[in-house]
Amino acid sequence: MTDQLAAQVSNRFAVVYGHEPEGVWSAPGRVNLIGEHTDYNEGFVLPFAINRRTYAAVSKRTDDRIRVSSTFAELPVELSLSEISAETVSGWSAYPLGVVWAVAEKSGGFGVGLDIFIDSDVPVGAGLSSSAAIECAVAVAVDELWALALAERDLARIGQRAENAIVGAPTGIMDQSASMLGELDHAVFLDCRTLEAQSVELGFAEAGLEILIIDTRVEHRHADGGYASRRAACEEGARVMGVAALRDLNANDLTLAAERLDDQTFRRVRHVVTENSRVLATVDALRKSGPTAIGELLYASHESMRDDFEISVDELDTAVEMALRHGAIGARMTGGGFGGAAIALTPLAKISEVTLAVKAEFASLGYAEPNIFAVSAAPGARRVL
Ligand code: GLA
Repeated sequence: MTDQLAAQVSNRFAVVYGHEPEGVWSAPGRVNLIGEHTDYNEGFVLPFAINRRTYAAVSKRTDDRIRVSSTFAELPVELSLSEISAETVSGWSAYPLGVVWAVAEKSGGFGVGLDIFIDSDVPVGAGLSSSAAIECAVAVAVDELWALALAERDLARIGQRAENAIVGAPTGIMDQSASMLGELDHAVFLDCRTLEAQSVELGFAEAGLEILIIDTRVEHRHADGGYASRRAACEEGARVMGVAALRDLNANDLTLAAERLDDQTFRRVRHVVTENSRVLATVDALRKSGPTAIGELLYASHESMRDDFEISVDELDTAVEMALRHGAIGARMTGGGFGGAAIALTPLAKISEVTLAVKAEFASLGYAEPNIFAVSAAPGARRVL
């Protein structure tokens, strides 16, 4: 497949920096099929990498300066490797700079300077992990240029470390794992405790189905309070229940949890416990019966996030309800919540009906026009030029 964006980003690099890059690396965004807010509870997730990617053209320098620029901010941000910290960087450049910092940390401070230019067609703020796509594209580039040969799971951890320590968002390991490990037509079934991953065939095309992304255009940011407060409630629930992480509880523990926890913390815990079972059930259904069997699990996940975890918004609920009413076989909000996108598993013959119905309902409720498009499961991070 000729990669137009790869060639484009290489050309832009040359214009901005006045020399050719040594290569172009790319990494995909991701959509989570099911398993929300389970990753930092050491549970299970089932995301897949999507056919929207971030490209990083990179070359080594002879000094220790790091320069980053992108199509969204061409003026390079420049500082030396030892100057990168949560205090010195901000905005979009915190993602690539955070990764350079985290790779240097992992490799014991080793590393020469780099020129980096980034472009992306992963929509920002839609819950499709545009940030993990930047992190993983830069991580594989730096790994190769610094000749480190780190394992994929280490590169995923480096992306997460950058996000936690430099960007300041207390996110889990799901997004970077999906972006690193994605495969064509497969989801990544990840055990977030052991980081053991299995590829699970999705089979959407054979079943005549597509995953529609309904980006509500309600912007979410995980550095804001909602995500962190959910995470804190989960940690509190695990502490009171005397387990290392909520992963260690199952449905039988919920009666005791209801007695020991206040109502709100209990509902947060119940979401995580039931969501872990839904991920396992979804993997089982995909393997035994194919994707037509997972619709109810997707909707049950949405209800749990709406009612127990309380991270949905009206726009997401409307998108899900309208998609189901007009022919989707399953739908749920996806990602961290408080905005972003819903997914709708939709028969090909119903795509235009679902799209039109969701748009019409959003218009009649005075919501912003949603951005609706199909995605497919694509390969993970790698060198492309
Ligand atoms: C965001 C985070 C992930 C995960 C999801 C919720 O996408 O980056 O680590 O916690 O939210 O499932």
